[in-house]
Amino acid sequence: MRKRGRARKTRGRFIALEGADGTGKSTQAKLLASFLAKRGVPARTTREPDSPLILNALSGCESKKGACLLFAADRASHAEKVERLLEEGAWVVCDRFTDSSLAYQAGGWGMDLGQVEEVNAFATRLRPDATLILSCPPSLAAKRMRRRGGESGFDCDLPLQKRVSCLYRFLALRGAGRRIVDASGTQRQVGERIREEVEKKWNLKS
Ligand code: TYD
Repeated sequence: MRKRGRARKTRGRFIALEGADGTGKSTQAKLLASFLAKRGVPARTTREPDSPLILNALSGCESKKGACLLFAADRASHAEKVERLLEEGAWVVCDRFTDSSLAYQAGGWGMDLGQVEEVNAFATRLRPDATLILSCPPSLAAKRMRRRGGESGFDCDLPLQKRVSCLYRFLALRGAGRRIVDASGTQRQVGERIREEVEKKWNLKS
C-alpha cells in the first residue's frame, strides 16, 4: 500500500564549478543559477570555503596538513547543507568542492594526492553530478586577478596556479562527470559554453 502524506520531491542535481583563481567561477555560478531559474529549475548557489570560523582559522594556519583539514572541515558542513537542498529538490550550483582540495593541496602545494583524497572521503561521500572545470591560460587568469585587485599574493602565485591547472586537467581525464570548459573570452561566451554543457547533460533545451 502507498504511504499517505507529502509526495517525495525529486532529488535535485549537484553541479560544481571548479578552476584555478581568476577563471571566473563565482560569476559563472551566479549566471548558471539564474539561467536554470529561467528554465523553471529551482536553483541555489553555494560556495567554498564559506564558514567564517574556518576562514578565520585558515588565515592563521601555517601548516599545509592543518589547512587541508580545515578545508575538509568546511566541506563537511557545506556538503550537509547541499545534501539538504538536493533532498528538497533544488539544483545546487556550487563554487568549488572536493576537486579544489585535490587541485590546490595536492597539485598546488605538493601534498600526497591519495592522502588528500582520504581526508576528503572522511569529510563527505557526496559527489557532484557534474563538475565543470573552467580553464584558461594562467597568464589570462592572472591578468583578470590583477584587474579585480585586492587579492593576496597567494592567489597570484603563477607557478602555483599552473600546477593547480595541471592537476585539474589530470582529474578531467578520470571522468566521473568532469568536463573542461574553455574559460577564455567574455563572460557571455563562457556562460554560453557552460549552459551548452548543462543542456546537453540534462536535455534542458526549451
Ligand atoms: P575562493 O574563495 O574560490 O577564491 P576567490 O573567490 O577569491 O576566487 O578560494 C579561496 C582560495 O582557497 C583559492 O585560492 C583556492 C583555495 N582553496 C584551496 O586551496 N582548497 C580548497 O579546498 C578550497 C575550497 C579552496
